[in-house]
Amino acid sequence: MKKQYFFVANFKSYLTFKEEIKWCSNNVKELAILSQDNKIIICPSFVSMGLVKGIELGAQNCSNFGVGAYTGEISAESLAQLDIKYCLVGHSERRQYFNETNENLEKKIEQLFKNNIVPILCIGESHQEYLTGKTQEVLLAQLNVLKKVSKEIIIAYEPIWAIGTGLTPEVEYIDKIYNFINKLMDNKYKILYGGSVNQDLAQKLKQFTKIDGFLIGKASTSFQEFKKIVLS
Ligand code: PGA
Repeated sequence: MKKQYFFVANFKSYLTFKEEIKWCSNNVKELAILSQDNKIIICPSFVSMGLVKGIELGAQNCSNFGVGAYTGEISAESLAQLDIKYCLVGHSERRQYFNETNENLEKKIEQLFKNNIVPILCIGESHQEYLTGKTQEVLLAQLNVLKKVSKEIIIAYEPIWAIGTGLTPEVEYIDKIYNFINKLMDNKYKILYGGSVNQDLAQKLKQFTKIDGFLIGKASTSFQEFKKIVLS
């Protein structure tokens, strides 16, 4: 059977509300066709989620807490009511700009599990850590949040220095890291790659590694670019 790859589009805050709605409504039919052979998950901002129909959506983040007095937060329970089945957790931009720690992430994962949402845990090393050979040590510490996890999760390996930079590691390097994570996790979870994914890289990774799919930022904001990656 042909492998079904994951293609997760992370719009971040690149698109405005109107642009997100336009992106989704213009491409519902084509996405339905692409979804016949692929698992496609679109992660727009919270404001768009309730208005998009006919597309499988994921969230970019969720609250550490359940419903309650947490001004400005969006609970996993609300996401579940919108039929959201996936949620990014611990994206490097959230770790960097919003000080997310492993402790926060454990709480988010717990909230998501309670609401039957699959967390997509993002992990990755900085350029300095990459250059000094610390990648595996860093990933090991980040993966510690999964020590008590027994339900389905997805791991997205995203070297921080490859995110939004156009720089990407060698395919052999990504393969090595994929195998490292896979072994550590006893082959239990799907593992995606993210960081300046384009058609060419996706094609190579499909050919030379066992990667289960891709987390796509900037390139996903253009439907044509995203489609090329899906069809790679
Ligand atoms: P990028 O972002 O594709 O723009 O590098 C990927 C991500 O941050 O998830």
